[in-house]
Amino acid sequence: MNNKTAAIIAGAGSGHRLGADLPKALVKLIDKTLVEHAVAALAPVAKLIIVTAPAGFEDKFREILGDQVTVITGGVLRSDSIRIALENIGSEYEFVLVHDAARAIASTELASNVLAQLINGEQAVIPALDVVDTIKEVDAGGYVRNTPERSTLRAVQTPQGFSKSVLAHAHSSAEDATDDAALVEAIGIKVKVIAGEERALKITTKSDLARATQILLPNTEKQIRVGIGTDAHAFSVDASRKLWLAGLLWDGEVGVDGHSDGDVAAHAICDALLSAANLGDLGSNFGVSDPKYAGASGATLLAETFNKVSTAGFKIENVAVQIVGNRPKIGPRRAEAIAALSKALNNAAVSVSATSTDGLGFTGEGKGLSAIATALIVSK
Ligand code: CTP
Ligand code: MG
Repeated sequence: MNNKTAAIIAGAGSGHRLGADLPKALVKLIDKTLVEHAVAALAPVAKLIIVTAPAGFEDKFREILGDQVTVITGGVLRSDSIRIALENIGSEYEFVLVHDAARAIASTELASNVLAQLINGEQAVIPALDVVDTIKEVDAGGYVRNTPERSTLRAVQTPQGFSKSVLAHAHSSAEDATDDAALVEAIGIKVKVIAGEERALKITTKSDLARATQILLPNTEKQIRVGIGTDAHAFSVDASRKLWLAGLLWDGEVGVDGHSDGDVAAHAICDALLSAANLGDLGSNFGVSDPKYAGASGATLLAETFNKVSTAGFKIENVAVQIVGNRPKIGPRRAEAIAALSKALNNAAVSVSATSTDGLGFTGEGKGLSAIATALIVSK
């Protein structure tokens, strides 16, 4: 905040081209009106903010903007509005930023950049963008008069910054201008051009409003995907084989047969994650006969799966796995299992549950273990 800086926000226009049933500055963009957006952008920079309102709407402006700004009645033309506002700025202010409420989402950073140049000694500073279209000067009969060299042209934005005395002098004539800098140029002051920004677009038509919405909400097309995976392994006839399940070693339990460590819970989660991201499955990613994965731990496969899903642009929202079998009893080690699986997935949210099957099927008959998992992932 600069104590010597005042800002004028021009909001007295009707917004004819936008075609709303309210003045343009009162039209809503997502969560607040255009004039509220503009005030929010300049409030961190300017000590005094004067907002020009269309006649008849002053109280409405005061109601939504509160005490942080001074609302005055604007004039017929934009220049009239600025002139009236200038009369309300005391001699303690050295710099004035003039901004259009219509450029509602220009950033605070842009205003700071303009102000920094004024503090640096410039008398007039305007943000601008290069133009992409070739611009023609056209006469009243509809014929081209001239084609200015495009590389020398700029599309000018607001907030524009001025030394207060220069701006007051420039506005002492009754000229109209859609751009304050033009009046300042006319009295022979050098105007410094700095880099503008896309988001300082002037909201004029309905499609501009849509574009501003898109700039503020870039992630509306976030993808949410769900995936499913299952796995099963038979208990080994080799009583010395160790049991790995849910990322843990289970002492005193007989292990399962398999190319890897046979961790059904980890494998079901890998398949669920790969399925959610539409990246195939365990076999197509890690090759069931690939020697590289012989004896691979569940944690290794989970970590590699995490990397693949992450590289594909997704973040894990949560995974849930249910282990099906008579033993081991999962309950007493549930927290440990959750911690181990979560760690292998870069601290993703994991839940672990278990069930027996009332003596039915190969799990109920104690022949093996299975697991089923779901995963929810969202685009980053
Ligand atoms: N403005 C103003 N006083 C006026 C006319 C315009 O304060 N007498 C303000 C508008 O509120 C707007 C800015 O100047 O924030 C730029 O003008 P523009 O985008 O043309 O807005 P409107 O004049 O409201 O729109 P339209 O030309 O479509 O009617
Ligand atoms: Mg206008």
